[in-house]
Amino acid sequence: MSSIKKIGVLTSGGDSSGMNPTIRSVVRTALSRGLEVVGIKNGYEGLMYDYIEPMNASSVGGIINLGGTILYSARAPEFIEPAGLAKAANNMRKHNIDALVVIGGDGTYRGALDFSTIYNFPVIGIPGTIDNDISGTDYTIGYDTAVNVAMEAIDKLRDTATSHGRCFVVEVMGRHAGYIALEVGIASGAEDILIPETPTVIENVIELLQRGKKRGKKSSIIVVAEGDEIGGGIETAQLIEGKTGFETRLTILGHMQRGGSPTARERLMAARFGFIAINALLDGRRNIAVGIWKGEYTYTPIADAVKKHPKIEETDLALLQALSI
Ligand code: F6P
Repeated sequence: MSSIKKIGVLTSGGDSSGMNPTIRSVVRTALSRGLEVVGIKNGYEGLMYDYIEPMNASSVGGIINLGGTILYSARAPEFIEPAGLAKAANNMRKHNIDALVVIGGDGTYRGALDFSTIYNFPVIGIPGTIDNDISGTDYTIGYDTAVNVAMEAIDKLRDTATSHGRCFVVEVMGRHAGYIALEVGIASGAEDILIPETPTVIENVIELLQRGKKRGKKSSIIVVAEGDEIGGGIETAQLIEGKTGFETRLTILGHMQRGGSPTARERLMAARFGFIAINALLDGRRNIAVGIWKGEYTYTPIADAVKKHPKIEETDLALLQALSI
């Protein structure tokens, strides 16, 4: 018999599409296993300031296809201060919450780690970030939708780029990670991608663009992650236009990549992660983050999940180069 009778669920940090179906899966799996569930609004802020409400099966009805998060989200720097953690612990006791399920990225996990270490409340993490930059999992909730949103935008940009014979620089999100840039670059047939995980040599980009023009390419697309060391889209577009003389335009996709209805893959992963998170908790696992790695479910200590391990596939970099000759 598990000692866990009541759980709290929250979403924290940058929102991502797929958080809603994840909440749905957490709540309904927990109810089906006889647990009580409360929803905590505005992430850790809600835990500190008591924005806590009971949830039932109907609380999560009709949200499987909705972007955003019905529990809202926030970045809450106060939570990592001793006073913030103490307020949160008081509310855990006041509501008799035995364990927390947190859905978010590395900042969310760092908060969870401090909280569980100092106050000994069990915490289970579910990776929710468009950046796909959490260790111990090769998928994070929101990533697939973000890549699809960016791909659809780039397809449209290619139409106008070709009509006008222009080069387009498209900046995608990823302050510290180039996964969105890499996969959307491959999926949309971009000429090149610039990402923080690999050194950017602008002369190579210029040469590639000039070679393409010589062989008759009507347009070109360069995808740059916002965190690339070159500085981002503005700097990239200026350098390209300055060094090639090609008419160049810049589009920054920004926060639109975080919104929209979750893709089918997203909803499936949301359902799976919510289900295995609750079962892990009831099986006695503590302070771990669920995930998936090469098709197998993973249970990574949160202390390890917050450590950065870049997982860019060399093969993907090589194939992008091969396909953009
Ligand atoms: O971590 C998710 C993310 O969307 C990053 O890709 C981006 O750099 C950052 O959040 C933007 O944060 P904010 O919404 O606080 O501006």
